[in-house]
Amino acid sequence: MHEKVLGILGHPVAHSLSPIMHNRAAKLLGLPYTYAAFDVAPKDLKRAISSLRALGIAGLNLTVPHKEKVIPFLDKLDAEAKAIGAVNTVTMRNGLLTGSNTDGIGFIRSLKKEGFNPKSKRAVVIGAGGSARAVGVSLLREGAKEIVIINRTKARGMALKKHLSKFGKAAFTGPETNEAEEALTNCGLIVQTTSLGMKKADPLPAAKPSFRKGQWVYDIIYSPGETRFLKKARMNGARTINGLGMLVCQGSESFKIWTGRKFPEEEILRFLKRFLAGGK
Ligand code: ATR
Repeated sequence: MHEKVLGILGHPVAHSLSPIMHNRAAKLLGLPYTYAAFDVAPKDLKRAISSLRALGIAGLNLTVPHKEKVIPFLDKLDAEAKAIGAVNTVTMRNGLLTGSNTDGIGFIRSLKKEGFNPKSKRAVVIGAGGSARAVGVSLLREGAKEIVIINRTKARGMALKKHLSKFGKAAFTGPETNEAEEALTNCGLIVQTTSLGMKKADPLPAAKPSFRKGQWVYDIIYSPGETRFLKKARMNGARTINGLGMLVCQGSESFKIWTGRKFPEEEILRFLKRFLAGGK
């Protein structure tokens, strides 16, 4: 059978578990798909996207740092990608590239599976990139009381605040301010969406995170399984969640868009946990 090609574009991308996750799912379901990882530097993104058309690639995921920058190179966006203002999934149909976003729904589904309901809660989102957009929009749509964005770059944080204000109450502050400390202390949920924590030498993404019991702390990083940030949160009594659940839930939604088939979520989650534990 003719193989259809899927893949992920990121920089870096070597850490991504999406290839083994989607290849495993296609194998379990007997579907003719192969999923590959492509390390594409930001300056090469436009050329990479136009080559998809020539190569007839069936679908793509985008990861850091391409989720927003890819938009001008696509033919259209679906309603969810427009609402979030970022794309993590691209589908080729009849020669046209459509951008979608499954991060928001994947994040919320994984959060609810763990038992947290964002309704009426105050949440802090650390970061202001494509992942933070999806997390912020979906939390406000679920009825969160307020989102406080903490980000290194002011312009980007302010732009996300403006965007989130269409959905509910949003505020922005830098990472080492009194406002950041106050918000981190007095919120019910902290979501860490930056890439800080993937490398051992990375600093913590916010200076004084004073975690406490009763607080939920979500880091969208899944490798390592426990970042320094999550470890600190756990040691201080917070309930912690890593990014594996979101990876599987957003992947499941993307897989359904590309193939029309239901993704074997629980089986894949068990497989990835075994894989990360070094078993296979
Ligand atoms: P994604 O689309 O996956 O969210 P992104 O759009 O590149 O990736 O966003 C990455 C986020 O991580 C941004 O909020 C970025 O902060 P800036 O807006 O200041 O660039 C944050 N980030 C990445 N590396 C960082 C670092 N070394 N220190 C602090 N923040 C960092």
